[in-house]
Amino acid sequence: MIKLLPEELINKIAAGEVIERPASVVKELIENSIDAGASKIKVEIQKAGTKLILVSDNGLGMAKEELSMAVERHSTSKIQDFDDLFNIHTLGFRGEALPSIASVSKFEMISKKKDALAGNVLSIEGGKILSIGECGAPNGTTVSIKDLFFNTPARKKFLKSDTTEINHITDYVLKYSLSYPNISFELISDGNIALRSPGSGSLKDALASAYGVDFVKGLISVSQEFGFGKISGFISPPSTSRIDKSYEIFFVNNRYIHNFLLNRALEEAYRNLIPGMRYPIGIIFIDIDPKLIDINVHPAKREVKFQNTKDIMDAIKKTAASGLNNLFDKPAESPYQAGQNFGEKWEPAMADILFPNDNFQLPQTKIELDISSVQPLIPLYQLKETYIIATDGIDMVVIDQHAAHERIIYDKLLGGNPVSQPLLVPANIELGIKESTVLKNNLKYFLELGFELEEFGGNTFILRATPQLPPKINVAQIIIDAIAELLEIGESTAIEQKKDNLKKSIACHSAVRAGDKLTDEEINQLIKDLYSTKNPLTCPHGRPTMIRITHLEFEKSFMR
Ligand SMILES: Nc1ncnc2c1ncn2[C@@H]1O[C@H](COP(=O)(O)OP(=O)(O)OP(=O)(O)O)[C@@H](O)[C@H]1O
Ligand SMILES: [Mg+2]
Repeated sequence: MIKLLPEELINKIAAGEVIERPASVVKELIENSIDAGASKIKVEIQKAGTKLILVSDNGLGMAKEELSMAVERHSTSKIQDFDDLFNIHTLGFRGEALPSIASVSKFEMISKKKDALAGNVLSIEGGKILSIGECGAPNGTTVSIKDLFFNTPARKKFLKSDTTEINHITDYVLKYSLSYPNISFELISDGNIALRSPGSGSLKDALASAYGVDFVKGLISVSQEFGFGKISGFISPPSTSRIDKSYEIFFVNNRYIHNFLLNRALEEAYRNLIPGMRYPIGIIFIDIDPKLIDINVHPAKREVKFQNTKDIMDAIKKTAASGLNNLFDKPAESPYQAGQNFGEKWEPAMADILFPNDNFQLPQTKIELDISSVQPLIPLYQLKETYIIATDGIDMVVIDQHAAHERIIYDKLLGGNPVSQPLLVPANIELGIKESTVLKNNLKYFLELGFELEEFGGNTFILRATPQLPPKINVAQIIIDAIAELLEIGESTAIEQKKDNLKKSIACHSAVRAGDKLTDEEINQLIKDLYSTKNPLTCPHGRPTMIRITHLEFEKSFMR
């Protein structure tokens, strides 16, 4: 028998699509407050939003009738007919968010219009209206959500750890603080201020309060007009890159969206400028005639369909490339310094394994090198500034310079009791909110590795000393990368694994990279340093540092 489902159940089904987790509630409520013209939006959460989410704004507010209409399904003040759907200037348009939220929580909405004498309060539990009545209230709207998913236990079970859920919430508030820098946002989590944006109208200020002043300093401002509209924002110089794409951020008409084609377009502008497996920073705003896009393609409006995606991709690439164009006059600095590591007292650690018969012969080569009796390999050539071709006089050996250097640094960090080198001038490291929490929780492990870091209030840290690292290395960048990896593996990982990850991350991010030109001296030192490690044959991630092509293989290939 075919039956029409009851309204409450319809709402619950819709909620399944729109409201995945506490962060979805925060997102929808913030969007409503922005659409209502608020200049101040405060978000308070308790227990990662599972106990309480409270969003208050100083926007337009609603009268009593509007309040009860707002929670009806498909009721919206934002569009009126089909044509409007393709000309959307607001963040909301479906009239779906509030009824969805109210069907899976204990919901209360208080609202007052500016010229009204009193406000009104509406209470709903699991989609059932409990009461509506007059009350005293400030101008604007406050929505409070208690016990989210109390009546959909399956959904509740799918929630991740509190830290993860808080991260998702922070992310939304943070992204909207960037696209609406004229609005002052505040996020309070279990009584602590997690984020506060100034609402000064300047994107730079908003970026600084989200990610720290240092983050903003090096960024390049870009802006270019196109037939469809405008691309603008900030991008990083090639010297600053990240280990993941989380700082490639796109807004379409101020709506934060995901579209991997846009990421690709931005990355394209950095091709050959930053090493492979690293990603640029780009806070990119696409302003486009709403008629040229369709937002109605994803239940949570996370995606946008462009009428002509290729135009947008080309425009992003062009805008970023022209921003980068002014920066190409600096000579590259050599990243690997000769003599910095083990000096002259070098002994191969695995001599017996590597040269079992101990009748190591010096190759007949014309290269002038300071050959000692323990020089294991004679470097011949740096191939594509990535591989070192070398020989022991019998076999040919190809070394991956990055993997080799990674092993050298990792072994030094493994050694324990690292020699900390105090910085002449302590450095300030300013981090974003998420990153600073991770660093606070893991400060002692950084200290064990020789990074003397101190909290300086807010999200700022002072770096007083570092372990012995290659010179000219950007230590702040290494710390930021290590934090990103800690974030990735999660708080609950076992301590030993965390510590090891940290060492690997530091080794990886401070090692020379593919594409770094090395001098003969540096190459020679790298080989010596590599052979003094405990395991010269693999990098800390287990990949080979070198491959050997034996003379027997040559003979076979040449059919001798
Ligand atoms: N904070 C607020 N201030 C003023 N009016 C609001 C506020 N929140 C909601 N409303 C009103 O309630 C209506 C319904 O809100 P709801 O979020 O359910 O739908 P929407 O925003 O129109 O569309 P969508 O489902 O796409 O978000 C809105 O159209 C708006 O008129
Ligand atoms: Mg809405």
